[in-house]
Amino acid sequence: MSNNPIGIFDSGIGGTSIFKEIHALLPNENCIYLADSVNAPYGNKSKEEIVELSVKNTEFLINKGSKIIVVACNTATTNAIDFLRENYNIPFIGIEPAIKPAALNTKTKAIGILATKGTLSSQLFHKTTDLYASGIKVIEQVGEGIVPLIESGKVDSGQMQLLLERYLKPMLEQNIDFLVLGCTHYPYLIPMLSKMLPSEVEIIDSGLAVAKQTQSVLASNDLLNSSVSKPRIKLFSNGDVSVLDTILNSKFDVSYLNF
Ligand code: DGL
Repeated sequence: MSNNPIGIFDSGIGGTSIFKEIHALLPNENCIYLADSVNAPYGNKSKEEIVELSVKNTEFLINKGSKIIVVACNTATTNAIDFLRENYNIPFIGIEPAIKPAALNTKTKAIGILATKGTLSSQLFHKTTDLYASGIKVIEQVGEGIVPLIESGKVDSGQMQLLLERYLKPMLEQNIDFLVLGCTHYPYLIPMLSKMLPSEVEIIDSGLAVAKQTQSVLASNDLLNSSVSKPRIKLFSNGDVSVLDTILNSKFDVSYLNF
């Protein structure tokens, strides 16, 4: 079982930001990645739809022999991970916006969070914010339109720049010193965001924390891969495979799959 793959899914190509962290930390693990790009974005869907799609992705990955599943999508984690954990007998790792480190370290007592509507309206997000960010101004912004642009290969475009300017303006007016990226597509925006934000504003994403959590859960379940042979890494998309391939700099084996 320990030689079986780590299964990873997202609504699209964004979760590759998590896959890359996992592969860097656990280079001899076999991985299988599923980009449900045809159904992206999940962020505007109802909780019921997000659960249904997460079930479909989970079953695909279990059928491929996954030993653990990483829900590399904040929207799917905050809306569906409880259901998945209750219904499947396999460890699940999720990702949530990193409100806690931002709230603990802010000096201006104002932090910005950019995420999907589905994440910002979830119960889990409200619970985390109430727990760690009381007394701190949390400026929430739905990143409407960002995921479709990334899914169509327009990460570094004028359209993206305009959207981000609009979304950052209220946060900067309120003097944030942390910007939390609450969607796994958004780490691909860090080069553009870094140019737009003053140097005092720190960008936080949870990719490395998720990789470390995956490592720790594998270790405690005695599931770390003991084999020294070259890892098998396979990425599937039901959308435009060339966009997935480009975002990974053609370094991995990507295929189209109708699912
Ligand atoms: N990568 C997903 C997330 O982390 C994007 C959500 C979407 O498809 O809207 O939330």
